[in-house]
Amino acid sequence: MKEVGDVYYAHRMRKIVGKEDFLRYFERTVRRTIEKFKMFNRGAKVLVAVSGGKDSLALLYALTSLAEELGIKVIGLTINLGIKRYSGKVAKIAEYHYKRLGLDYLIIDLKEEYGVSLDELTKVRELRRPPCSICGIVKRYLMNKIGLELGVNVIATGHNLNDLAQFIIFSLINGRLEDLSKLTPYVPGVGGLLIAKAKPLAFTYEDETLSYVKAKGLKYLTEKCPYKPKKGLQLYIRGALNYLEEREPSSLYNLVNNVVRKINPLLKGKEEGLGKCEKCGMPSKGKICSFCKVMELSKPKLGLWSQSRKNSSPI
Ligand code: AMP
Ligand code: FES
Ligand code: ZN
Repeated sequence: MKEVGDVYYAHRMRKIVGKEDFLRYFERTVRRTIEKFKMFNRGAKVLVAVSGGKDSLALLYALTSLAEELGIKVIGLTINLGIKRYSGKVAKIAEYHYKRLGLDYLIIDLKEEYGVSLDELTKVRELRRPPCSICGIVKRYLMNKIGLELGVNVIATGHNLNDLAQFIIFSLINGRLEDLSKLTPYVPGVGGLLIAKAKPLAFTYEDETLSYVKAKGLKYLTEKCPYKPKKGLQLYIRGALNYLEEREPSSLYNLVNNVVRKINPLLKGKEEGLGKCEKCGMPSKGKICSFCKVMELSKPKLGLWSQSRKNSSPI
């Protein structure tokens, strides 16, 4: 009897293909996105932010496969945020893959470096922010700071097409046109202050990143962050978009593509000036950056004033 191998759905081809064809299709989609948005110059050092989930691992492996062809150097970065029973697993799985691929990498521990974990920060009511929002501030800050220290050219994250589509609808529902205007698969850097950011998976569907890690037989973290909301608008939008795509294939691709190409250029508003944070010297729109504000407000509340051992910032 003829053996039937694994099959995978390639959205843009609108057909089911075998493993080898799928892997080629996926990497081709990523390469075309990189080329279309001129994400990396030859010789670029690319810092890949890896959370251990399917998306960032698909990104890490796809970029490693394409590294020679694109002439880039891939470096891994994982942030251990100090989320109990979760962050340890994130760091472990990321390290396993960095070693397996023979990559240079860095795993940074928030508690060790700054004396406070995300679990602790979520207890500070005065921050008046949900955990994911605090987490976003911390991750963005650390990625940029480490990127500057390592002298990389670009930071690449694993945001996929479904993430971008969800962001678009969420921004529209809430009238956050300024957020929407910033949605682009590539954001150039600002010399010496902000490292450029790239989303090479911007045109790969979420189920395709899953298919890619499965086709490659990769171990990945299926567990979700415990702070991820289990209900709410973001989740409902995601479900609705999947429903739409199922009934009207390519809807999500068209949504993201049209917003990035045609709508965003019309929305481009005023660029807010970017200065340096008075405390840490990192980029900031105000006198003090959001990360320093979070630390400044939280540490006394947590009785942690003297604990930022390795932190090079003055806090
Ligand atoms: P999220 O904001 O959790 O949806 O993650 C979006 C992207 O940010 C992921 O695909 C990763 O590239 C990156 N990322 C998230 N968490 C971490 C982490 N702990 N360390 C490094 N990169 C991360
Ligand atoms: Fe940031 Fe969950 S990973 S709050
Ligand atoms: Zn600062």
